[in-house]
Amino acid sequence: MSTLNRRDVLLFFSDHDGMSLVDNIGLDHWNVTKINDINSAKKAIFTDNHRVGIVFMTRYQPDFLRCIQELVSLGKHVQWIAMTDDITISNPMVRETIVNHFYDYQRLPIDMSRLLPALCRAYGMSELARSIARNYDTSIEKNYILIGKSTAMKNVRQQIIKMAPVEKTVLITGESGTGKELAARALHQFSQRAKGPWITVNSAALPANLIQSELFGYERGAFTGANRFKMGKIEAANEGTILLDEIGDIAPDVQIALLRFLQEKTIERLGGTESIGLNVRVIAATHRDLKRAVVEGTFREDLYYRLNTLHLQMPPLREREDDIIDLAYCFLEKFLREQNKSKPRDFSIEALRVMRVHNWPGNVRELINRVERAVLFCDDRLIAPKHLDLDRRNNSRQIVTIEEARKRAEHDAIHIAIQHANGNLTRAAKVLGISRASLYRLCKFNVEMNENNQAHRKLRK
Ligand SMILES: Nc1ncnc2c1ncn2[C@@H]1O[C@H](COP(=O)(O)OP(=O)(O)OP(=O)(O)O)[C@@H](O)[C@H]1O
Ligand SMILES: [Mg+2]
Repeated sequence: MSTLNRRDVLLFFSDHDGMSLVDNIGLDHWNVTKINDINSAKKAIFTDNHRVGIVFMTRYQPDFLRCIQELVSLGKHVQWIAMTDDITISNPMVRETIVNHFYDYQRLPIDMSRLLPALCRAYGMSELARSIARNYDTSIEKNYILIGKSTAMKNVRQQIIKMAPVEKTVLITGESGTGKELAARALHQFSQRAKGPWITVNSAALPANLIQSELFGYERGAFTGANRFKMGKIEAANEGTILLDEIGDIAPDVQIALLRFLQEKTIERLGGTESIGLNVRVIAATHRDLKRAVVEGTFREDLYYRLNTLHLQMPPLREREDDIIDLAYCFLEKFLREQNKSKPRDFSIEALRVMRVHNWPGNVRELINRVERAVLFCDDRLIAPKHLDLDRRNNSRQIVTIEEARKRAEHDAIHIAIQHANGNLTRAAKVLGISRASLYRLCKFNVEMNENNQAHRKLRK
């Protein structure tokens, strides 16, 4: 068997078990990853493709057992086999853990004639669980697992593991709905601050005058209506992590205050005089092109460089065709469970095809919404494109001429710019880098193009 065809197995043991015990395991046709530290084991489960895992449990200690429980809960998609001994298994807590989380258990000493068949069965079971729709597992959501077997998503997970323990600011960029918040959450979870607070602030959702007090807090009497002290979100994140979401939308005076905090690691509450030293890790996220915002003068260059110490780019869903179907099945199962339905049982071939070719402008969030809608409206056995609202031809990523693609891209850029400028054409034109007159002309042209499309659709009906 070539190394490529070998199956991966994670082998977790503690120093108590000793290397000699582990070395006695001869698994010729398996890629064995031997790990004896719990954090490395968790990271391996997060980033790699393990289907089966062996855990040595040769002692009972509440802390150790808790670690094992955390590991096997994180890797619920893995089939686990416990290697234990008579004394350890006599403990009821150990027995309970094995019953609740493990596929099989064996008593030491190692008997390869029993272990190998058990491993093969566990591997087969894991394959089977993956091959059916009903493999959604709530642990995925609880543990902020980023689903996706594409190379792009694998890279993202590996970068998260590398960046998590580094006490540096991370800037996460990517289109809307690509999982920026989820990635930020995973960064916190895999850092030393995991047990500390996790705080998020959405800079776009709050008016400029409120964001300052939301971030820095205020003293009693700081302004009219401030009749009591309020702790700011940065202070609340002390010893933990804060996610500054939609950082690209933050007002210039808040940018200055944030820069000061990032440089000096201290804050002053509004209306206060005391400088408070804090230990907070900052993660910032935005769907905007911050470099461009710097060039356009809407975002401070010094703040940009402070935030961009480490950069994580979330890839759009349309570039990870491999992940679309995995995610779709995962959410199918989740919504069936949530809506307490037994139908639909699967996606039709045609539904799978349209999902593969759809452009997914709203990325994973759009996929979630479409699958939720399909589960709600479909009472047939199979989900059809119409249930996903993907039966209109203009939604798909069909091959188009360059001219057509250019027009569509232009149309999208104009649409987004006008939306962001709240309908103000002068501002939208500035962002697009064209004159107001040109924008006006393009808008007129695009309206005509839209009308043409609608006319075509009517003709098709
Ligand atoms: N790889 C993934 N695996 C599982 N769920 C995902 C994945 N990526 C995104 N999601 C889910 O998709 C939804 C959108 O993700 P999230 O809120 O993190 O996106 P975002 O990039 O922050 O979007 P926005 O820019 O609009 O704020 C969430 O429900 C999230 O749990
Ligand atoms: Mg977000």
